[in-house]
Amino acid sequence: MNRRLFLGAGLASAAAACGVVRATRDPTVAAPTALAGDRVVALSAVRRLVVERRDPLAGRCSYVADTTVQPILVARRGETFDAVIENALPQPTTVHFHGLTLPEAADGAGFDPIVPGARKQVRFEVKNRSGLYWFHAHPHGFTAEQVYGGLAGLLVVTDDDDAALDAALGLAPGNRRALAVADARVAGGAIRPYAPTEADCLHGWFGNRALANGELDARRVVAPGWVRLQILNACNARGLLLAFRGGEARGGDGLVPFHLVGTDGGLLAAPRAVERAFVYTGERVDVVIDPAGRREITAVSLEFDPRHHAQGTAPRPHHPARERYSPLAAASVCETAPRADSADRLPDGAELPLFALRIEGATRATPPLPSRLSALADAAAGPQDATRRIRLDFDERAGFLIDQTPYRLDELAFTVKRGAREVWEIRNSPISMPHPMHLHGFGFRVLRRQGTYGAARRFATESGARFPTDLGMKDTVLVWPNETIWLAVDFALPEDAVFRGAQRYMFHCHNLEHEDGTMMRNFAVL
Ligand code: C2O
Ligand code: CU
Ligand code: CU
Repeated sequence: MNRRLFLGAGLASAAAACGVVRATRDPTVAAPTALAGDRVVALSAVRRLVVERRDPLAGRCSYVADTTVQPILVARRGETFDAVIENALPQPTTVHFHGLTLPEAADGAGFDPIVPGARKQVRFEVKNRSGLYWFHAHPHGFTAEQVYGGLAGLLVVTDDDDAALDAALGLAPGNRRALAVADARVAGGAIRPYAPTEADCLHGWFGNRALANGELDARRVVAPGWVRLQILNACNARGLLLAFRGGEARGGDGLVPFHLVGTDGGLLAAPRAVERAFVYTGERVDVVIDPAGRREITAVSLEFDPRHHAQGTAPRPHHPARERYSPLAAASVCETAPRADSADRLPDGAELPLFALRIEGATRATPPLPSRLSALADAAAGPQDATRRIRLDFDERAGFLIDQTPYRLDELAFTVKRGAREVWEIRNSPISMPHPMHLHGFGFRVLRRQGTYGAARRFATESGARFPTDLGMKDTVLVWPNETIWLAVDFALPEDAVFRGAQRYMFHCHNLEHEDGTMMRNFAVL
């Protein structure tokens, strides 16, 4: 049987909506895309997922799903992944499916890395709501280097709500896109290898140019009418204040308004009209935008104050495993002194163009947006009193910490009863920086925020001083310095999922330099 065929009308139309032509009958042709670079493959069709280094000089790596390099995986809720993951890197790796509710064995967190040359059979069923999920390398001590090297891929999950939205929008073929935005240090047209200094270990590794699905200066051609974009911040450390510039200055700053329709774990209950949205590392947004007669729109990260209050450097984390394996890039200067020039990095919070949309074709109507997108209930209705308190601290000698405790692979910070509903209070120190905190395996809702700094507070337009991006199902949430946030975390398994025995998961900052450092804890669900 030809496994590359998109079986079932739902998946075929989802694939078409993601910018690919309908199912091909030619088994030699990978799921064709409207444009080079966007390679859509059905999750259930993958048999072999190879993790390989394709440029040993610069340390650039890719995922290869059977024959498709850097695939965008698409699955309908309920479908199964059943494939062999092969590690062809010179370092251990794992493939973590960020946002999915999976048992420990399939989660791909760093507990059980695949050593170079080894393989691992991984099987799971997608139980989550439709939304943009992603998969990335997660071997402790190597995560930041491997993700920067390119080991991050997209997984678009579809379901009936998702299909209903596409239908209501009357999307033209090619007008739905999934984009992973990352920043890279580019000099002379080439991406520099990962080589963090002690200052990078403290603040994170920042580049000077954006890649969208691995391309510099990415441009996508879309038709007039609604455009639906599912966007991931796949940067190691850079926060994005996402907005769209329309070229001409209409109404002041030339920003094109858009509608936020979904976040990490799927669709909101109803669309929210916004002009900008914070999207921190690991977070996703699902947006719908009307080009309204423009011929080009540029997605940008607007300038903002990124609140890096912590000063100094963090010690380079010591990972015994790093001594056994070489860096990904032969040209890496990983353990040497910082270079003096900084032309290849742009500070966090500086304006950065991300990708462009070129609008071509006959004008097309934009039907009204549906007022209901999903049955997601209002989180504010449940209990609000904290059942677990977590502190994010800064320590001059150790760097950033969760509850004063540096990460250890063999430690458990706490255990949780399966099915428990907890309220987490997470407080970030005033002498700190923004930390996008990520919970493996279980989605949560943001209940309220307190102590948000002035310029960001301006965008906290929702009840509980929340941002519009706090309204959906989340797995990663930004905590500004001095802020306290309250989350409702539900440890129930999705319908008919059975995980036997204790399962370990991770809770960490998704600034990858912080994650590889000390800012992670393990917990178990019993
Ligand atoms: Cu996307 Cu533990 O990570
Ligand atoms: Cu994750
Ligand atoms: Cu952090």
